[in-house]
Amino acid sequence: MRDKILELLKSGKDFLSGEMISHGLGISRNAVWKHVNALRDEGYEIESVRNKGYRLVSSGNIINEREIADGLDTRLLGKYIVYMDEVDSTSEEAKRQKDMPDGTLFVAEVQSAGKGRRGRKWTSARGDGIFMSLLLKPEIDMRDISQVTLAVGIGVCRALRECAGIEAQIKWPNDIVCQGKKICGILTEMTAEIDRVEYLVCGIGINVNQKSFGSELSKKASSLCILAEHKFERTPIIQSALRHIEDAYMMFLKSGFSALQDDYRALCVTLGREVRVIRGGEGQTAFARDVNERGELLVERDGREFAVSSGEVSVRGIYGYI
Ligand code: BTN
Repeated sequence: MRDKILELLKSGKDFLSGEMISHGLGISRNAVWKHVNALRDEGYEIESVRNKGYRLVSSGNIINEREIADGLDTRLLGKYIVYMDEVDSTSEEAKRQKDMPDGTLFVAEVQSAGKGRRGRKWTSARGDGIFMSLLLKPEIDMRDISQVTLAVGIGVCRALRECAGIEAQIKWPNDIVCQGKKICGILTEMTAEIDRVEYLVCGIGINVNQKSFGSELSKKASSLCILAEHKFERTPIIQSALRHIEDAYMMFLKSGFSALQDDYRALCVTLGREVRVIRGGEGQTAFARDVNERGELLVERDGREFAVSSGEVSVRGIYGYI
């Protein structure tokens, strides 16, 4: 019933009288009033004026199942949505609910133990960011997992360009950066049987409405709000990310990473730069030349070219973060 009232309020720009709603839905005016209050508690801003009725002023910064599903036109990603107000980590929740269908989206308002790559923490404060994980069940060899992450990176990068109008780029393998700072991180985890993937959890953290970061972090992290100088609604960003990730992911499943190689190259900020290739704590300076059809970074050092894969090394710019 609450969904129907919301649908009615969304369909009209003007006030809808309590009487019209109660007649239309066959419930008492008192019941309408209670549902309206419940919607307000969820975060919807609903104005009520005597003798006029109710009007939806804004859906605020709400990212629940209903808002994400409304108008989402994907075929696989986000067809099932698990929304949580608070959770330890959306990726951990996805693993606990691994029997949910392929493409299920887990999304939370706040994470109490958000995880980053290499055992780091991912700061996950309420209202500021997007914390979401996709449960994926591709029929692929486990050696190709990192290519899924690259495809996801392409999708997120395109979504951030589309929604925020910023020049987002990818720092190989899959940090999304803009103006030299990180705005999104992607962490892919997998469970496999022998050499076949059972499921993957692809966790995505996007810095959206943070106005500042601590002094250390602010050297390498930024947010859409800092870059575009205004706040963003998170739902359209999630929807756009799901659409673009799905396009890239489907392309990968159909034709392999080689079909995405040019798209990736065009977005990758690492290419053509001096980088530090860090393996087992040891760093070496090399020149990042290209990304091959397996998504590995081709680097040159002392006139020799070699490929590095994302699980094996970490790559850092020699002049700062990129
Ligand atoms: C990185 O270190 O760059 C990866 C960060 C990934 C953070 C996201 S937020 C949603 C999901 N849940 C987690 O605990 N981590 C990922």
